[in-house]
Amino acid sequence: MKAAVYERYGPAEVVEIRDIPRPEPAEDEVLVRVAATSVTTADWRLRASVFPGGLWLVGRLMTGLFSPRKRVLGGEFAGTVATFGKEVTDFDVGAPVFGFAGAGAHAEYLTMNAKGAITRMPNGLEPAEAAALPFGALAALVFLRDIAQAKAGQSILILGASGNVGVYAVQIAKAMGTSVTAVASQGNHALLKELGADHVIDCQTHDPFSGDVHYDFIMDPAGFSTFKAARKALTENGVYVPLNFGIGDVVRALVSRWTGGQSMRIGVNGDTREDLDRICEMVSQGQLRPVVDRTLPLDAIRDAYAHVEGRHRRGSVVFTVEGPGAAISKAAG
Ligand SMILES: NC(=O)c1ccc[n+]([C@@H]2O[C@H](COP(=O)([O-])OP(=O)(O)OC[C@H]3O[C@@H](n4cnc5c(N)ncnc54)[C@H](OP(=O)(O)O)[C@@H]3O)[C@@H](O)[C@H]2O)c1
Repeated sequence: MKAAVYERYGPAEVVEIRDIPRPEPAEDEVLVRVAATSVTTADWRLRASVFPGGLWLVGRLMTGLFSPRKRVLGGEFAGTVATFGKEVTDFDVGAPVFGFAGAGAHAEYLTMNAKGAITRMPNGLEPAEAAALPFGALAALVFLRDIAQAKAGQSILILGASGNVGVYAVQIAKAMGTSVTAVASQGNHALLKELGADHVIDCQTHDPFSGDVHYDFIMDPAGFSTFKAARKALTENGVYVPLNFGIGDVVRALVSRWTGGQSMRIGVNGDTREDLDRICEMVSQGQLRPVVDRTLPLDAIRDAYAHVEGRHRRGSVVFTVEGPGAAISKAAG
C-alpha cells in the first residue's frame, strides 16, 4: 500500500511516499481503508521531535530515543472498515468510520484498537470533512468540559481561535453557553463570527490582555501566551488553560491551585469513543461543523507540513487518499 513514511526525525523532507506492506489487524483491531486524513500539529511535533518547555527527553522516550518507533504518522482519519480481528463485534465491513488513531493514518490502510477513538462517520459529512474533526474537536471538548469546567454564563477568551483546535473551541464553548471572545488576525474574524464568537480581537493590532475586560477563562490552544501575561485579563478567580505546557508550567499550575485566586490548569486529553460520539451528536444537532483550510492529495504531504508549521491555517489541512477507500462519499443515515 501507499504510505507517507519517515525513518528519522527532521524537517518535512524526511517524509517519503513509499509502497509498504499493508498492516494486518490483531484480534482486537479494525483495519480501516483510509479515504481522508490530515496533518496536525501533533504530526509535526512527532516528525520534527519538537516538544515544548523542556519535554524533549520525555517526548523522545515516548516516540523512540534515536529514531521513530512508528514510521507512519497521521492521527485523524475517515474511511471504511475493511476487516477486523476475531474479538471485534461492534463494526461491519464497509461501515463508514472516522476517528483518531494516534499514528498510521498517512496511508491507504491503518489498524487500530476497536475500542479506541473510532466510530461511525456523522451523517451527511464527506470523508474530508469528517477527518478534519477528531484532533481539534476532542481536544477542545475535553479542555473546556473537563479541565476548565466552563459553565453557561461564564466568559472565555480563546487565543489562536482560527487554528485547528481554536475553531472547535469557539463552537464548543458557544454550545456550552459561555460568552466567547475569539483572538486571531482580522482576515479570520468573519469565520470566527460565523462559528459563534460573540466578540473578536485582532492579535496583530491589539494585546488581548490589555483592555478593561476580565474573563473567567483564558484558553490558549496554540501556545503563544504565558500565565504571567494572561493574569492581567483574568477575573479574581479566573483560570488560564494552555494546551501547550512545559515542566515550569506544571509547577506553576500546582502552586496556583494551592495559593488560590487566579489559577492555571493543565492536562492531556485522552481520545475516547464516548467523546467522539459526543462530537457526532453535536454535529448532528448543528452545534459543530468541520473547518477545512485546504484539501490536498497525499503526495503533497511536504507542502501540507509547511502550511501547518507556518501556524496560520484556518482549521484543518486534510488529505484525500487515492486508493480503495477513496470511493466512499457522504455517510448515509
Ligand atoms: N495537552 C494536550 O492534550 C493537547 C491536545 C491537543 C493539542 N495540543 C497542542 O495544542 C496545540 C494545537 O495547536 P493548533 O493545532 O490549534 O495550532 P495552529 O492551528 O497552528 O494555530 C494557529 C492559530 O494560532 C494563531 N497564531 C499564529 N501565530 C500567532 C502569534 N505569533 N501570536 C498569536 N497567535 C498566533 C493563528 O492566528 P492567525 O492565523 O489568525 O494570525 C491561528 O489562530 C498543539 O501545539 C498541540 O500540541 C495539546
